[in-house]
Amino acid sequence: MKIIEATDYKDMSKIAADYIIQKVNQSPKIKLGLATGGTPMGIYSNLIADHKKNGTSYQAVTTFNLDEYVGLSGDNPNSYRYYMNDNLFNHIDIQKNNTFVPRGTVGDVVKECESYEDLLTKHKGIDLQILGIGANGHIGFNEPGTSFHSQTHVVQLAPSTRQANARFFSSLEEVPTKAITMGIATIMKSKEILLLVSGEVKKEALKRLLTENVDEKFPASVLKNHPCVTIIADKAAIAGLK
Ligand code: F6R
Repeated sequence: MKIIEATDYKDMSKIAADYIIQKVNQSPKIKLGLATGGTPMGIYSNLIADHKKNGTSYQAVTTFNLDEYVGLSGDNPNSYRYYMNDNLFNHIDIQKNNTFVPRGTVGDVVKECESYEDLLTKHKGIDLQILGIGANGHIGFNEPGTSFHSQTHVVQLAPSTRQANARFFSSLEEVPTKAITMGIATIMKSKEILLLVSGEVKKEALKRLLTENVDEKFPASVLKNHPCVTIIADKAAIAGLK
């Protein structure tokens, strides 16, 4: 794993966005794996600014999101489909029918997971996957203890994850208890992975990732088995290592 040290959140977001822009320009048909939450917001605003200023085109790009809450439809402002439309897709020239987010309100969510996995296979996988990390080491919504062989599946969210995400909802009770997430094996099939780590709140997770053994108890540790991972971390997150 390669580590790039950024000064702060703004710098981390700029470095990551510039990297993605360069990849999109090199390979206009690139398939991107995208994350939601607080971490990638700065990346997305940089991509939008660059699209407006320099005209980087997403016309031929396909995207796959990592996860979605079960029970929230795409027009619910807390759903990840809404988040993606609002924070990125509505502001660039991507074709909406080339953007995929698992659907959290279909009748049969297990079938939806299988279809999502099939869709990824049909598209021959992700070229560049963007990841954030949970304080407990989760990637996607793969909580500690998830099998490294897992494919897209339905998860019960850890109380600490619901607590951490409650900041986006009016109350903790409103945070769904389940989500659909790409599995760890699904994520590991990506050709390249960019992991973003920002803030003091993530410094323990980064330290564990870099110092502990690969173990299902700490999902992100699996990334050590991937041949092409770059971590972009800011000073506050790296502080735990020094
Ligand atoms: C989001 C996702 C999660 C987040 C993680 C960190 O699609 O898959 O793994 O990346 O929970 O969230 P933030 O960035 O809000 O700290």
